[in-house]
Amino acid sequence: MSDRRSFFQKAGTIAAAAAVLPLLDIFQAEKVEAAVKKIEHLSPLDAAQDEDFWFTVRQSYTVSSNIINLNNGGVSPQPIVTQDALDRYVRLANQGPAYYMWQTIGMERENVRKQLAELGGVSAEEVAINRNSSEALETVIFGMNLKEGDEVLTTNQDYPNMMSALHQRELRDKIKVVKISVPVPCEDPSIIVERFRNAITPNTKVILMCHVINLSGQIMPVRAVADMAHEKNIEVICDGAHSFAHLDFKIPDLHCDYFGTSLHKWLCAPFGTGMLWMKKEKIKNIWPLLGHPEPQSEDIRKFENLGTRSFPIEASIGVSINFHRGIGIKRKEERLRYLKNYWAEKVSKFPKVGLNTSLKREYSCAIGNFCIDGMEPGQIIDKLFGDYKIYTTPIVHDEIKGVRVTPHVYTSLSDLDYFVGAVEKISKG
Ligand SMILES: Cc1ncc(COP(=O)(O)O)c(C=O)c1O
Repeated sequence: MSDRRSFFQKAGTIAAAAAVLPLLDIFQAEKVEAAVKKIEHLSPLDAAQDEDFWFTVRQSYTVSSNIINLNNGGVSPQPIVTQDALDRYVRLANQGPAYYMWQTIGMERENVRKQLAELGGVSAEEVAINRNSSEALETVIFGMNLKEGDEVLTTNQDYPNMMSALHQRELRDKIKVVKISVPVPCEDPSIIVERFRNAITPNTKVILMCHVINLSGQIMPVRAVADMAHEKNIEVICDGAHSFAHLDFKIPDLHCDYFGTSLHKWLCAPFGTGMLWMKKEKIKNIWPLLGHPEPQSEDIRKFENLGTRSFPIEASIGVSINFHRGIGIKRKEERLRYLKNYWAEKVSKFPKVGLNTSLKREYSCAIGNFCIDGMEPGQIIDKLFGDYKIYTTPIVHDEIKGVRVTPHVYTSLSDLDYFVGAVEKISKG
């Protein structure tokens, strides 16, 4: 009973009490907790291979039996407990939105902020809740005081939305964007640090870089780049869309100044949830993307002046955090890496198949990218889905051509065996 309370009630206060837990959720939570107890004595590496435990985790999702979803990197499903919480919040809000959504469910935001801050290892006064990584990172990109001639340094493998935001500032404010390239894959972080260092000029003001590159799954040396950049008074924005709740780290470990992430990816929070973190002393210098009566305030909440949006979505984030904590970030990271290595090692043995992702633990985790000689990524994904109902995503980039594969905690080994078999047949033509 007390475990069950800890699983759910951390998520909310007023509204959680108002939204009574259905029996199914209680049953679900107890099943996961019992499964965790059984593997508590195992190291995270051993727990990563305990198929009974991961089967219980799988049962906590509403996984389709009609397709095999290997594109969780795009957006991830929510566990049943989150889906149910969201449903209850929506129904409660609809009893009288101006009161129940704004006055009741809206009160949950501060609680969610605290939970996110705890997860990220930062102060709640440095965390803004928003809709996704694009909103978080573009708030910083558009909100910085940059003038004509200032340079922003990034990579040509950073995410298109952020590239568009920077390009818009080039056109409008006459800043200059400089891009370095990153080897695919890269097993020597010093190459990346040196490429950034060599591209710095006296005009460089900011570096924007991914923590995990979405195209290849490459884990980037953010801390080393940030330390080098800070010596030259350059600020660092980290795109953490693919690292938060995937890798075991705290935001301060990265030494960056700004960090944006999507919570609907590896945390499995409701669709349309994100988070922006920045150092307390930086807040006053960043203009909010949407107007605020005190735009130069030091209050992180100035970035949340979004107008009416779904408070049920925000309030349900805490349930996903509790679910994520229930599994444990160390176990989750090891499982995700185990799944990626499981399929990637097998397909790499097929004569025509190549990998665009390092299999060394420091350089990748859940995300992997493979290619087949003589086939375009689009042809491969069409075959995978057309013939096998396996859903993946094509990556076509000047430096990387392949198929990105992203399992999640609910992915089973039998799904991956089926996928490996499909790749073998496709590669043999
Ligand atoms: C590296 C990276 N940054 C940012 C984003 C944008 O995420 P969102 O669409 O949730 O804003 C993505 C999306 O996949 C991404 O891969």
